[in-house]
Amino acid sequence: MKSVPYYTAFAAIAAGVLATTTPGGFSTRCSGLVQSFHPDQQTTVLVAEFLAKGSNFTDPISHPSCVGGFTGGSILADVCRLRLNVSTSSTSSVIIEAWMPANWQQKGRRFAMTGNGGLAGCIPFDDLNFISSLGFATAGHNNGHDGDTGVPFFNRPEVVKDFAYRALLTATKVGKKAVKQLYSQNLKKSYFLGCSSGGRQGLKAAQDFPEEYDGIIAGAAGNNWNNLMSSFSYYWKFVANGNNPPILSAEQWVEWRDEAIRQCDQIDGVRDLVIEDPRKCNLRPESRLCAPGKSWASNKCFTSAQVTFLRNLYEPFYGNNGTFLFPGFGPGDETITSLWFAPTAPQYTVDWYRYALLNDETWTVEANFDLDAVDNANRIDPYNISTYKDLSKLKASGHKLLTYHGLADGLLSYEGSDRYYESIVRRMGLPSTQLDSFYRYFPIAGMGHCATGNGAWYIGAANQYSGAPATTTETEGGVLMSMVKWVEQGIPPERITGRGFTADGKLASTKDHCKWPLQNKYLGGNPNRRSSWGCS
Ligand SMILES: *[C@@H]1O[C@H](CO)[C@@H](O)[C@H](O)[C@H]1NC(C)=O
Ligand SMILES: *[C@@H]1O[C@H](CO)[C@@H](O)[C@H](O)[C@H]1NC(C)=O
Ligand SMILES: *[C@@H]1O[C@H](CO)[C@@H](O)[C@H](O)[C@H]1NC(C)=O
Ligand SMILES: *[C@@H]1O[C@H](CO)[C@@H](O)[C@H](O)[C@H]1NC(C)=O
Repeated sequence: MKSVPYYTAFAAIAAGVLATTTPGGFSTRCSGLVQSFHPDQQTTVLVAEFLAKGSNFTDPISHPSCVGGFTGGSILADVCRLRLNVSTSSTSSVIIEAWMPANWQQKGRRFAMTGNGGLAGCIPFDDLNFISSLGFATAGHNNGHDGDTGVPFFNRPEVVKDFAYRALLTATKVGKKAVKQLYSQNLKKSYFLGCSSGGRQGLKAAQDFPEEYDGIIAGAAGNNWNNLMSSFSYYWKFVANGNNPPILSAEQWVEWRDEAIRQCDQIDGVRDLVIEDPRKCNLRPESRLCAPGKSWASNKCFTSAQVTFLRNLYEPFYGNNGTFLFPGFGPGDETITSLWFAPTAPQYTVDWYRYALLNDETWTVEANFDLDAVDNANRIDPYNISTYKDLSKLKASGHKLLTYHGLADGLLSYEGSDRYYESIVRRMGLPSTQLDSFYRYFPIAGMGHCATGNGAWYIGAANQYSGAPATTTETEGGVLMSMVKWVEQGIPPERITGRGFTADGKLASTKDHCKWPLQNKYLGGNPNRRSSWGCS
């Protein structure tokens, strides 16, 4: 925060808004939004309340699958909490929460929109709490339906439209109006940050409505959405053989995960459970094939069928006629087991096909999923949810995009982000040195899906605040404050600083992650120190 300009003097002379700078005045003004905030016919205020720093907050859980949406404990800053219902059509609506801090004027008058996860019907309260503690007015939304499930899409195309982009765009516009109403001032800069589905939302914004955000941060983006939904079931049904019989036990999967680390960890020169560049590792499951007469019980080795499964897991997912559809796993991605060993087909695929694509409740992965179904999904591509356009609108807007992806992401491989970046180089005909002016990509070694991992994974990003012990103090060098510096001071990020933690939450390491196509390079010395690493 040190490098951020403050506007204290400005706030002091803005006599008309002095009421908002005293605690009592702010609280009154906040609760008054119930009467005063009427941006349009579509918007209803559900709650307007002042939340004091340190007070407890209970997540108004809207669906059982949203349990745990607020894990942050207490409120980190004095905020005005506004809950809205905005109808987006005659058959759809979005629930929005805007959290606006009392010290907004002094902290640069920034607005930050948050994203969602999975099938996205849960408001990210932890993100709202954390981002507002940095002085941003921030907003989140349920993306047009409650819960991490696709059931609400059934025969409701307007709800799918909200999910694809409209809920985000609506929430952003209404959130900005709420900010103006509360503080009686225009905001200075607007940001977006999200991971996973939220990463896809960020890319959607960058592709289609970049004018809304000066800086967009898109993590582990689930773009190429239809193929992502299909890929879960491709690997479950065809590569893991419908898990029938289970191809590996959980114990065997853990052994394989450790084997991947054994084969790949040392290539970067440091044995630290972190594979700096999985692209450099030629993982070889065949090295663990049982010799005749040997078994898992006797030698912890794998059968030929198991080795074949493991080999195919790292192969891309190709469709009819050999069309590339989605990347396979990368070495080091073996951090999530549930998909491959679940007795039932991946729920995200089932929900997406049944309710969003086909409106057919009888559709099953077992009976109906094949490569023709995949082609059909790409043909339907509701509301262009694939999110795979180029970035010419973003370039023209002069706004910025920062993407990142954990290199140990067990849900959707970093290779999707690599491929999107390279596709932009080719489609726009711009080398990295030119893309750098508006689009930068940072692979994060040792980070899992959006958060956690063996590496320096905490980068001040979306979906990270609950699990990170250092959240409230250290954000400089992370993605959000690096984006602020890029937008507001014209200083673009060359590296993103990450922090790693011990099992009991102590700071264990710091590392600067390099901007693609540069890679983290060990220079020597204590590998837990930033100074021991460079980019080349
Ligand atoms: C907040 O909740 C915690 C744990 O439930 C409790 O110990 C604490 O007393 C509460 N604080 C306030 C201010 O209500
Ligand atoms: C939001 O508004 C819609 C009508 O536009 C209504 O159907 C829905 O029940 C409302 N939701 C809540 C939580 O108030
Ligand atoms: C694959 O080839 C067949 C026959 O040429 C064609 O009808 C079909 O559209 C192709 N599918 C894709 C996904 O390209
Ligand atoms: C999808 O994108 C294409 C190309 O930009 C556009 O022509 C089409 O109208 C879009 N479809 C929808 C439903 O938004």
